[in-house]
Amino acid sequence: MSNNHSLVPDYIKNLKVYQAGKPIDELARERGLTRISKLASNENPLGPSPFAIKEMTNGLWDLHLYPDMHAFKLKTALAKLYDLKLENIILGNGSEGIMSYIVRAFLRPGDEVLSSEHTFIGFYILARSVGSQLKLAPMTQDFRFNIQEMINNISDKTKIIYIANPNNPTGTYIRKSEFDQLMEHVPSHVLVILDEAYFEFGKEFTNYPDSMDYRYDNVITLRTFSKAYGLAGIRCGYGFAHEELISNLTKIKLPFEPNLIAQLGAVGALNDLPHLKRTISNNALERERLHKYLLDKEFNPIESITNFIAFKTGSSEASTHLYNSLLDRGVIIRPLVANEMPDFIRISIGTKDEMDHFYEAMEEILPEYNKKFGRC
Ligand SMILES: Cc1ncc(COP(=O)(O)O)c(C=O)c1O
Repeated sequence: MSNNHSLVPDYIKNLKVYQAGKPIDELARERGLTRISKLASNENPLGPSPFAIKEMTNGLWDLHLYPDMHAFKLKTALAKLYDLKLENIILGNGSEGIMSYIVRAFLRPGDEVLSSEHTFIGFYILARSVGSQLKLAPMTQDFRFNIQEMINNISDKTKIIYIANPNNPTGTYIRKSEFDQLMEHVPSHVLVILDEAYFEFGKEFTNYPDSMDYRYDNVITLRTFSKAYGLAGIRCGYGFAHEELISNLTKIKLPFEPNLIAQLGAVGALNDLPHLKRTISNNALERERLHKYLLDKEFNPIESITNFIAFKTGSSEASTHLYNSLLDRGVIIRPLVANEMPDFIRISIGTKDEMDHFYEAMEEILPEYNKKFGRC
């Protein structure tokens, strides 16, 4: 086949495959380790809620049936929680599933999509997968979305603006006043995706803009059961927006996403407030301990309001060394090369035991590491 008739468009050929955190089984297979702490994918270290497990287990006997394509029970539970109508809610295979509907429904080759450097790579891949032009504004020096730069980059071709708030992998957030400032400059035909995957952690902070306090017709809020709710494995996310936007997205959505078990697990998780509270308080406690430790070891952690912290190693060589040395000791963390922060590493907050595992490993690694990288 000549290039002119190639099946695969160049914008697909040029995509890089998403790199997930290393799975526990893979590391166990590779190195024969038994004690492994995965601190690489911002999952809930306390696991799923027992309520969610019970609902899902009961649902196994209905697996011969298609799920309710309108997900009535889950949408009703979300509508009650956030005081919305069912028509304002869309569900998908994770919040990333909903991002894929948005991209499919609204973006065409050549359309401009505006976001920031150092944000969620899953979205970059989706935006590029339809041939749109991704414009990335620089961040502030303290690794936050630079709202003024974002405003400066809005053009006649801008169709979508993507903001992760709080942001992954930096753990930082835009303040209420910054969100207001941005919205003053966004034309009403431009769709703003407000990705709030870490909302449950962020809402503890007073100047964090909870998007439920706003009602913009051109904003879609995305949230997920993958993080604070501890259900990353079932792939269930939800979005809130104006009913017209939701109805257009629903037309191109695959009808039976999320699947039956995911719908049931999500309802169970919403009914278990104590589990969510335990999750948030364990996270706050261990995040503070980790931040202090990293400061103490002079790793310049970025102040985070989420369930992970990114910290500076100083070079990509140092990041690789630390990553591999931790793997050798059964601790999986995330280098940030793909986020174009090769001199940083991100670590998710685990249980006290998992964090102790990380600290023990670091104490073994640091004497040689400090010497090798001139940090004595
Ligand atoms: C900012 C952000 N958005 C979305 C996602 C994907 O979440 P989900 O599991 O709901 O697809 C992640 C996952 O790491 C994330 O960090």
